[in-house]
Formats: sequence, C-alpha cells, structure tokens
Amino acid sequence: MTALSDACERNKEPILGVLRTAFASCRGVLEVGSGTGQHAVHFAAHLPQLTWQPSEVPPLEGGLLGRVRASGLPNLRAPLPLDVRDEPWPVAGVDAGFSANTLHIMSWAAVGDFFRGFGALLPPAGILCVYGPFRYGGRHTSPSNEAFDAWLRARDPDSAVRDFEAVTQLALAQGLHLVADHAMPANNRTLVWQRR
Ligand SMILES: C[S@@+](CC[C@H](N)C(=O)[O-])C[C@H]1O[C@@H](n2cnc3c(N)ncnc32)[C@H](O)[C@@H]1O
Repeated sequence: MTALSDACERNKEPILGVLRTAFASCRGVLEVGSGTGQHAVHFAAHLPQLTWQPSEVPPLEGGLLGRVRASGLPNLRAPLPLDVRDEPWPVAGVDAGFSANTLHIMSWAAVGDFFRGFGALLPPAGILCVYGPFRYGGRHTSPSNEAFDAWLRARDPDSAVRDFEAVTQLALAQGLHLVADHAMPANNRTLVWQRR
C-alpha cells in the first residue's frame, strides 16, 4: 500500500498557490525530503513548465517511488537518493529548490548542510521555497506549534521548530536573500529566497 499523508493533502493546494508565483520563471526544481511524493506529483501536475526532481534519504521504496512511477507525469523525474549531509549533492542543472516540513526534523547541523547544498546548486536568480513551522523573535506563533516543538524535542533532541532569524541567517551566508514570507494555514509559513 502507498503511504498517504493527510497533512500533504491539506497543505498541497495552499503551497501550490505560492509556488505558481515563486517558480514562474524557473525551469527545474530539486525537492529535498519528498516523503510520500504527494507534493511532487501535485506540483508537477499543476506546474507543467517545470521539471520536478524529487529526492529522499534512502531507501526510497516507500510510497515515493511507487507514487512517482504511477503518476506517469512526463515532467516528474525518478526520485534521487539524497541526504543533505552528503557532499556533493548528486544533482545539477536546476534553478529552484523546494522542501516541506524537513528543517524541524533534521538536526541543526543538517539544516546548515541544507543551505550550503542549495547555495552550491542554485544559479544567480535561483529560487528556494521552504514550507513549515517557524519561531519568530524566539516565540512560537501558536500554542499548537509550541506543543509540537515540545513533542519533537522529546522524541529526538536534535529536532526542533527552527528560528526564522537563524534560518534566514544561514540562507544569507549562501547569498540567498529572503524575498517573501507567506502565512499559511495551520500556523505554517512558506519562506522564499532568491540567489543574488
Ligand atoms: C515530516 S517529513 C516531511 C515529508 C514531506 N516533505 C511532507 O511534507 O510530507 C520529514 C522529511 O525530512 C526528511 N529528512 C530528514 N533528514 C534528512 C536529511 N538529512 N536529508 C534529507 N532529507 C531528510 C525525511 O526523510 C522526511 O522525508
């Protein structure tokens, strides 16, 4: 059976609304941590001008590979094995990046690798969009995000809801400038950076 994320079903349409504009001038997107592949299939289907490259930490045999194969979409590539801690990333020729709900799962060191990887990959004017929960000014944006953060840290001390300012600093160190910060349903954000 192919895994299904209810959260992806709820957030894929609002995220698509942001990506339509953010990726309007882009041609090829690398997605990090594609999970079940629901986002990859939905975005590739609705943004046919883009080639969508999903990726995931091996093994890929969960829902991702099956869902991508079953989609039959000509602009959706076979998923790549990619752990952001690997160097160099096994991909080239993309001008955009996307990732949803990954920065609070990976360690802070890996978040640094995430931005270093996209910093090395994206050309001038390249776009990076990241969806997920963030803290602002050291404060959670809702009680539910605070409870989620406590749950994350209890489960794995290396994971946590990240600080917007700290993430933005990592991006800036790679020449990625914040160009938009979209409020999303369920107290999430979509942050958009551009390579300058
Ligand atoms: C909560 S899931 C989100 C999956 C999917 N993007 C979504 O929105 O449903 C977190 C994802 O981060 C990925 N991840 C964790 N550590 C990673 C790393 N070091 N490199 C790449 N992906 C990583 C996991 O494999 C998983 O797919």
